[in-house]
Amino acid sequence: MEKTAIEDRVFNPSEEVVSNANISQAVYDEAAADRLAWWGKQADELVTFFKPYEKVLDDSNPPFFRWFTGGTTNVSYNCLDRHYNSAKRNKAALCYESEIGRKVILTYRELYIEVNKFANVLKGLGVQKGDRVCLYMPMIPECAIAMLGCTRIGAIHSIVFGGFSADSLADRINDAEAKIVITADGNFRKGNPFPLKNNADVALESTSCVEKVIIVKNAGNDINVVEGRDVWYHDLMATADKYCKPEEMEADAPLFILYTSGSTGKPKGVQHTTAGYLVQTQATLKYVFDLKEDDTFWCTADIGWITGHSYVVYAPLALGMTTFMYDGTVDYPDKDRMWDMAERWGISVFYTAPTAIRTFMKWGNEYPRKHDLSNIRLLGTVGEPINPEAWMWYYENIGGSKCPIMDTWWQTETGGFMITPTPMVPLKPGTATIPFPGIEVDVVDENKQSTERGYLVVKSPWPGMLMTIWGDDDRYIDQYWKRFGDYYFAGDGAKRDDMGYIWVTGRVDDVLNVSGHRLGTAEIESALVECAEVAESAVIGRKHDVKGEAPVAFVILKDGFEASPELIDKLKKHVGVKIGPIARPDDIIFTGGLPKTRSGKIMRRLLRDIAEGRAIGDVTTLADPGAMAEIATKYSGKEE
Ligand code: WTA
Repeated sequence: MEKTAIEDRVFNPSEEVVSNANISQAVYDEAAADRLAWWGKQADELVTFFKPYEKVLDDSNPPFFRWFTGGTTNVSYNCLDRHYNSAKRNKAALCYESEIGRKVILTYRELYIEVNKFANVLKGLGVQKGDRVCLYMPMIPECAIAMLGCTRIGAIHSIVFGGFSADSLADRINDAEAKIVITADGNFRKGNPFPLKNNADVALESTSCVEKVIIVKNAGNDINVVEGRDVWYHDLMATADKYCKPEEMEADAPLFILYTSGSTGKPKGVQHTTAGYLVQTQATLKYVFDLKEDDTFWCTADIGWITGHSYVVYAPLALGMTTFMYDGTVDYPDKDRMWDMAERWGISVFYTAPTAIRTFMKWGNEYPRKHDLSNIRLLGTVGEPINPEAWMWYYENIGGSKCPIMDTWWQTETGGFMITPTPMVPLKPGTATIPFPGIEVDVVDENKQSTERGYLVVKSPWPGMLMTIWGDDDRYIDQYWKRFGDYYFAGDGAKRDDMGYIWVTGRVDDVLNVSGHRLGTAEIESALVECAEVAESAVIGRKHDVKGEAPVAFVILKDGFEASPELIDKLKKHVGVKIGPIARPDDIIFTGGLPKTRSGKIMRRLLRDIAEGRAIGDVTTLADPGAMAEIATKYSGKEE
């Protein structure tokens, strides 16, 4: 396991922050005294049920836990109808800016109407409760409208990040058997339209379940429209009815599927439920980001990731807050774009990823300094451990040395924050600190005993938890509940310090974290061996200043093929096309052998040692100890 820099500085929150906070010690105490009663109270306060629930938690069939059983509700109802006739009716629900400067503000009333219309559009196309709808969209308001439209009629959305390739999209469409795909003509990236619809067209060549493709006109680029299959969003919306009754959904009905990488095989469809997810995402946003009526919250995550689902769309809207979204690159037209928008929109709570912070830090503090960021009162990070240096830069340059930073640890599978400070918790740069109220985590050794340094586990079910893996209950059990029985295994390593704070040290399984994006080594390896030249490959993550980790591939060529710069290029490109640009290896190293145990398992730890320039560790368990010497020589040759 890797060492974390020990950070002794403690930043105590100011009295003003603590006294104004939504959270208090009483909340922690109440949750600790009876966590299920506390979660029940959160549900009563934060969710409008059509039919009240009978039980907070049904744990009769572990690990298939069910929250708020017996209750019925609807997510779009909670996000919109509750605010439609309230004082919030003319409050900005969603603020949006595109890279080329197009701005949209939708009030709660306006958003409600758009979502109702879109729900009717879906119904008109034959979409029914339980059907899957795939979204392959930019960060545009129509994406949020489409999500909420699905939830209104009980359809299950599956959002595929726009940076994924056609192949990745096709796999996800097929696995979920999506009936409808919603996409856009394109979106702007560094001033040029990126042809999203073209990718969707390629993906659709290898799917047979899709009946209709809805296209949002966004970038105005030329696209291919397939007669009978493709329909324009604006044409459908022009004639849609303005009211659609929200479907009454069981508390544990599937809400969405979101694919994420695991340590083996294909990405898995993490399936989330309705009421528990609504409770945890709202409770965490309310207490951690401390949202108030007059806040404008900016979570920079793409909607294609869980952070975008939970904290760009669902939680802020359910709480009746103003959420801001931006579709574009962070340095267009210049490196101060983010701060320019933060100033213009009066952002008060800002949430981003360490990889972005390191990029901003590299560019220098003259960019934030050009702008008045004094509206910002709270900051957050997510996606990977934040190095103390980046934390300090963020604290001083974006937060003006006055804003607490909420370092939130959670996962696609957890739905919402799990380990995180709240504004009343003393902070240390680099740690996500303590569990959220009502959440029980531990650091354990191989034998499930509490320890100072080991595996991160969640000891009891939580409301926002995944329900299963889409279509694969066995994989759900295998992946999360096999190793430690009734403890959920997160796949992360962690250590605890003398204040009891938890320091997440990163993945202990074969999952990479590249710029906060999860990638399975197995996925990249299987893309590489598809190439005719490649016999075998092993992919590892090498430490990277900005990205956190960068993929590096060790490749054995088949007989008759020679290493060359052209081949390196070709293999890198192939991975980009197969999975998406984020998965492209930074380096490809050709080798004659790979370090393997006698049972054939690749020793990735040794490859990481080589790639990060450390002395090679113990090789006595290797089937062929000589392989390491050869790889080390090849690798150092490459470095010269
Ligand atoms: C990592 C993103 C340290 C971790 C919400 C986890 C973090 C994986 C943090 C989940 C953090 C996320 N500190 N590590 N604050 N937040 N991680 O599913 O390895 O895309 O298991 O969910 O990101 O990534 P995912």
